Amino acid sequence: MATCQRLNLRPLATGLTRPSARLVAASRLPVAPVRRKSGPYGYTQAKALVFSKYGEPSDVLNLHTHSISPSIPSSSVLLRSLAAPINPADINTVQGTYGSKPPFTSLIGTAEPSVTPGNEGVFEVLSTGGSGSDLNKGDWVIPAVAQFGTWRTHAVADADKLIKVNKENLTPIQVATVSVNPCTAYRILRSYGPSAGIKAGMGMRPLEVGSGEWFIQNGANSGVGRAAIQLGRLWGLRSINVVRERDTPEATDALRRELQDLGADVVVTESEFLSRGWRDQLAEITRQGRDKIGLGLNCVGGKSATAVARSLGDDATMVTYGGMAKQPVSLPVGLLIFKDIRFVGFWLSRWNEKDATGRRHMIEDILGLIRAGKFRDVPVEEVKWDWETEEAALRNAVQEGLSGFRKGKGVFVFGDT
Ligand SMILES: NC(=O)c1ccc[n+]([C@@H]2O[C@H](COP(=O)([O-])OP(=O)(O)OC[C@H]3O[C@@H](n4cnc5c(N)ncnc54)[C@H](OP(=O)(O)O)[C@@H]3O)[C@@H](O)[C@H]2O)c1
Repeated sequence: MATCQRLNLRPLATGLTRPSARLVAASRLPVAPVRRKSGPYGYTQAKALVFSKYGEPSDVLNLHTHSISPSIPSSSVLLRSLAAPINPADINTVQGTYGSKPPFTSLIGTAEPSVTPGNEGVFEVLSTGGSGSDLNKGDWVIPAVAQFGTWRTHAVADADKLIKVNKENLTPIQVATVSVNPCTAYRILRSYGPSAGIKAGMGMRPLEVGSGEWFIQNGANSGVGRAAIQLGRLWGLRSINVVRERDTPEATDALRRELQDLGADVVVTESEFLSRGWRDQLAEITRQGRDKIGLGLNCVGGKSATAVARSLGDDATMVTYGGMAKQPVSLPVGLLIFKDIRFVGFWLSRWNEKDATGRRHMIEDILGLIRAGKFRDVPVEEVKWDWETEEAALRNAVQEGLSGFRKGKGVFVFGDT
């Protein structure tokens, strides 16, 4: 992708129209800039959110306008964005705190080298460079590589950096949000299924489908948490789910019911979970410890993570995959020594690199479940992105992405771009 962008993307300082517009005398320019989607030379106008230094999204994100040449290499395709979520990891990338740091480049002609954030999204193929790929106009594709840069209206990409998706009976939002959160839940549950029943010291074993074993998770209202509830239920597991209280008891109950509708067996609030009463409640759920909780999922950290660890049975595994509370995970040594609990981390990007084929199968599997009505979308707050959408609106939507107690995940939905 890097090479073809260098060859084909031409910055427009004004964002007005085609390159030749710059030659027109200023007095003859229309007062209000009129956008032509395609100039006489077939250039496509595009916009991308970019940052040139790390910081808070509201401080460092800019909306950059550029144009894309119609002549692209035969192995490449021209893409139009349909939808792209705003995930916590994307915001951490802008802040400079994420585990991978995409390089700052001048590929789309920004004044300073920049990065276009956005790890996940779905695009429609507008045109192909030739016969060098098996993609066709109208196909839907998602990135095959991490840090693709999806917060943009258009892109040119090598076909081998893309995965074609069967779009039948799917919405752009469903496809745009499949490859990070549902895949994280899927991979964790498959790789670190409950280990109740194995002899101490034998390590982790894969999930036993249909076993009815318990797992426990905090951040259960997150995209990953909701996916884990649903996949766990489909695969014959039972789940205990920790959520934060809402403003009112009614709102908390509504959230509880929502997660139960998805398949959650038990939903507890964080304050119930951190209270002295939790030990008794847990004993009741696990029939005085006869049912072991074999797996813990932690995306919060701090006290909540410690309480997840304390809830686990002997030989269990606790997987930390996020740190929403920005607090370290601290563990009583007895859990390591006497219960032999395994504490591991999980990063989907690393797993994707190791098993690209497994990733494709997993995505197809999840999309199949969505099509079959067996897996429900995460609630979203759509952020409409049209050609005229102001930079500030897009920037603010990103900034709000890390604030808690939201009605849904922010997703850019591209309209008339
Ligand atoms: N390791 C990986 O490969 C991987 C992959 C995907 C995601 N993740 C991580 O998983 C986590 C969830 O991501 P997502 O996209 O699923 O999230 P999301 O849908 O954007 O939702 C964020 C969740 O975090 C919760 N939260 C925010 N601040 C919190 C705090 N201080 N204490 C407790 N909970 C808090 C929110 O709870 P409320 O509902 O109460 O607001 C909400 O449920 C993030 O940390 C993300 O980076 C990791």
